[in-house]
Amino acid sequence: MSVSNNSQNSVAERPFFRLLSGQIGAGGLVVAIETAAWMWVGLGLDIWILVACQAFLAAILSRFIGLGWGWSVVQFALPWATWGALYLKIPSWVYLVCFVLTYAIYKNARTERVPLYLSNSTTWRALEGLIEKSPNPERGNFIDLGSGVGGTLCYLGKAKSGWIFKGVESAPLSFVISWVRSLISVNRNVSISLSDIWTVDLADFDMVYAFLSPAPMEKLLEKVKNEMRAGGVFISNSFWPDDEGFDECLELDDARKTKLYIKIM
Ligand SMILES: C[S@@+](CC[C@H](N)C(=O)[O-])C[C@H]1O[C@@H](n2cnc3c(N)ncnc32)[C@H](O)[C@@H]1O
Repeated sequence: MSVSNNSQNSVAERPFFRLLSGQIGAGGLVVAIETAAWMWVGLGLDIWILVACQAFLAAILSRFIGLGWGWSVVQFALPWATWGALYLKIPSWVYLVCFVLTYAIYKNARTERVPLYLSNSTTWRALEGLIEKSPNPERGNFIDLGSGVGGTLCYLGKAKSGWIFKGVESAPLSFVISWVRSLISVNRNVSISLSDIWTVDLADFDMVYAFLSPAPMEKLLEKVKNEMRAGGVFISNSFWPDDEGFDECLELDDARKTKLYIKIM
């Protein structure tokens, strides 16, 4: 598993800008093809031929600008989807609503390269087991860095009434959903803040959990090592920097064979 360095966060390295340049480059070639067809044989090409050219060229160009095969499929699909949407005459406010909802949930995919995906119930039970094995299973403080829609915290809050569970989440819609869930949590021991994980002082917590992506892991581990107190436990779901040691790796018995990397401070 590789971890990004700073250059991966530069504007030019973000997939969005490569996707956009692939489509713009393909658009330029399509205009050239259409112009040549018109000038040489006096032929105006049908719209579906132009869309097919745009899709093929964008998919091929993507391979030359460092995007994987998966992105080529996205590049191929985009012109067809745009044409389909125009054909269906979808009202413009629908796009605005979709954009706002997507941004409100996936805000951190653009800035931190961390989208929303959720820990499953096998992981929740494994975390509960780790709390039970901790030096003080009856009382402690737990934080979920990037707590999504709050499922992990609400499960643990119900299972471990003596512990305090805190979440930090900066995507607005995920925050609102998890905040409402925390208000009705059974033991009233769950709280969520609308804040950035980089502003939280980890010294206050016995157990810190994160399920993010490879991108921020190096920086996060640095923060964990600087701030967590001796004996504290850091758990990262799925992602761990190559060149950093951990104390234990639990492989869970779920479909995706989730790995929990554990470091004791
Ligand atoms: C993969 S999801 C995990 C959700 C939850 N922890 C779980 O396990 O179900 C990662 C979450 O971290 C949030 N996130 C990413 N970077 C963040 C940041 N800098 N500050 C706050 N939240 C962040 C994302 O918005 C997303 O909801």
